[in-house]
Amino acid sequence: MERDIKALVKQLTIEEKVGLCGGEDWWRLRAVERLGVPSVMVSDGPHGLRKQNDKADHLGVNDSIKAVCFPSACATASSFDEELLYKLGEALGEECQAENVSVILGPAINIKRSPLCGRNFEYMSEDPFLAGKSAAAFIKGVQSKNVGTSLKHFAVNNQEFFRTTVDSVVDERTLREIYLAAFEIAVKEAQPWTVMCSYNKLNGIHASEHQWLLTKVLRDEWGFKGYVVSDWFAVSDRPAALNAGLDLEMPYSGGHNDEALLEAVKDGRVSEAALDAAVERILTKVFEYADNRIKAEFNLDAHHAIAAEIEKESAVLLKNEGSPDNGLLPLKKDQKIVFIGAYAAKPRFQGGGSSHINAYKVTSALEAVKARGVDVAYVEGFPADKDVDDPSALKAAVEAAKQADVAVVFAGLPDAFESEGYDRDHMRLPDCQNTVIAAVAEAQPNVVVVLHNGSPVEAPWIGGVKSVLELYLGGQAVGEAAVALLFGEANPSGKLAETFPLRLEDNPSYENFPGDGKTAQYREGVFVGYRYYDYRKMDALFPFGHGLSYTSFKYGNLKVEKSAVDFITGGETLKVTVDITNTGKVAGKETVQLYVEDKTGAAIRPIRELKGFDKVSLAPSETKQAVFTLDKRSFSWYNVELGDWYCETGDYKIVIGASSRDLRLSATVKVTSHVNPPFHVDWNTTIDALLKDPRTRGLTLELSDKRFGNGPAPEGIASKWAERGYLEATMRNLYMVMGVPYEEVEKIIEAFNKLL
Ligand code: BGC
Repeated sequence: MERDIKALVKQLTIEEKVGLCGGEDWWRLRAVERLGVPSVMVSDGPHGLRKQNDKADHLGVNDSIKAVCFPSACATASSFDEELLYKLGEALGEECQAENVSVILGPAINIKRSPLCGRNFEYMSEDPFLAGKSAAAFIKGVQSKNVGTSLKHFAVNNQEFFRTTVDSVVDERTLREIYLAAFEIAVKEAQPWTVMCSYNKLNGIHASEHQWLLTKVLRDEWGFKGYVVSDWFAVSDRPAALNAGLDLEMPYSGGHNDEALLEAVKDGRVSEAALDAAVERILTKVFEYADNRIKAEFNLDAHHAIAAEIEKESAVLLKNEGSPDNGLLPLKKDQKIVFIGAYAAKPRFQGGGSSHINAYKVTSALEAVKARGVDVAYVEGFPADKDVDDPSALKAAVEAAKQADVAVVFAGLPDAFESEGYDRDHMRLPDCQNTVIAAVAEAQPNVVVVLHNGSPVEAPWIGGVKSVLELYLGGQAVGEAAVALLFGEANPSGKLAETFPLRLEDNPSYENFPGDGKTAQYREGVFVGYRYYDYRKMDALFPFGHGLSYTSFKYGNLKVEKSAVDFITGGETLKVTVDITNTGKVAGKETVQLYVEDKTGAAIRPIRELKGFDKVSLAPSETKQAVFTLDKRSFSWYNVELGDWYCETGDYKIVIGASSRDLRLSATVKVTSHVNPPFHVDWNTTIDALLKDPRTRGLTLELSDKRFGNGPAPEGIASKWAERGYLEATMRNLYMVMGVPYEEVEKIIEAFNKLL
């Protein structure tokens, strides 16, 4: 049904229009009954439906409807699987349709700047390409069911400490390359119905009032078509927010902000045209939902099974000593196995706060193993919810480990250790858990550690255990997935979407996270996550992109479509393929990663950056191609002078890896850019700059011998200094130091500028 939203907006009174730009209550938008505008509902998200009927609150104190808790984003991003994220989105879209929810508030894709951010479990990655692609797939899945998403939290909300007032101070290149890039990909590829602005300030301005962010970048540059909604209570100055591009304020402000907006429209501080545009954007999505309701079946058990499938594809096998098909994992059913740790019986499967789902059931590993008729012993070892030493529980764990062939320790972070609302104090597991793992590893050579956590942990016991399986916060079916993976019914195929540093102090944001409560200085710039560890050649506990399998893969036959690529229109692409063969005994999936290295030296850039990934599924001995398509953006960095993405003409290396530190194949391509950053020659322009620009290089070389003094170093001056002196000489120096007549230098400058 085609609706004329513009005509509808014309019929609304100013009061009605102002009303439509604010919430009716905690979760509902306002209706205008006389014109048939319905009141639609939005709900959290993102890894399940948190629909609260009465007594709404966003801290999760009051219950929401019984629903399915899917794995959190920390897990699902590790699947590196866009189809899987689409499937998750579809399931959520169906639930929303069944429950009459117009928008699910997610995905959340803030970059994991520090392992300490309390909300990292809800976020996807330290890498914007991966986060953006994963979010786009999720959004497309949800929206295929005619339900909207809310891409959040826009932008640069990477900590919980004073999240509503902190000022994130970030330079533009870092913003564009790291903190905005994931949003850009998701908006351009998937057009979320809504974008949720964050609480914090960005470079001194509240995100909710940030015109550059909400209008110039989001709408004008990226072409966002939906409405911008505030994070809950994120609006400070309502008229300023509307002028900046914030359409809908949520939740109900108590009326004060409606009055402020009405007054501002009446006295002209907010134009009626701006108000109309906001209302039009909101109503377009309200009716896109209301006019396209679909009958959705919402079967809890079927979705529980999907949650288990997703977790199986997302968990990451971090360590498995021995060859891939002869490690401690998978376990054999006839082994004498003991499960140790409270999470075996009571898994931690989701994080706390607004994303908290009222899971209709939870499957623990103990239940899942029993359902298979496999006999395992169980001792608690340590509690699930606190950090307390219990010598008798420790002793029982050690005794049980001694009696067994294999000890599997179910460890993780208690709820209180990570949550929305506050950041973590440290990167450790509870001490009581580390003590038990170390003691068990002393007593038993065959130890597996299974982790339930939303963000990296240190592993002081790593040398003493043979295997580590990272489940992250795996949703309500986590125990089912864990057992399937432990016993080899499913083959692990997740790869880390973030680096596990050896020590917290290694993290690039360490000095500046979370800041003083007023500002958070993003001084590490673009060197976030592996971009930093690689640049500094630092070891990590587990690198970005790492993940093992019960089979092995051979990489070969790297083909780059052409050895040179000319970006004339900017729309040219480059196809890269590589053959992957399953060389082991069982079926498995491999996530092949493509990184690009800029060898031009034009800018200070990370050594390599992820620009493609492809997950291939292979039967034993089977070979398939992993396929990647690169474009201009794959080679580019954000050039602030140009105000655009830019790649220098020169050589770039394409590197194919099984992780960011397990690089298998590479090829070099020559890129020609055809774009020059703005350049104007004046008295302070250096010879170095003239040599670097292809347009002025020729004349510079011509003049070098004659006029620029590029001769042999005089006595007493090292040749290196002479060389630097030549490169760093300015036009002014020609006249003042080298004795070229003033008028001649003027003419030289003019000649150069004619070339530009
Ligand atoms: C959170 C959002 C959430 C909203 C509604 C806020 O506190 O930051 O992620 O969607 O509450 O519950």
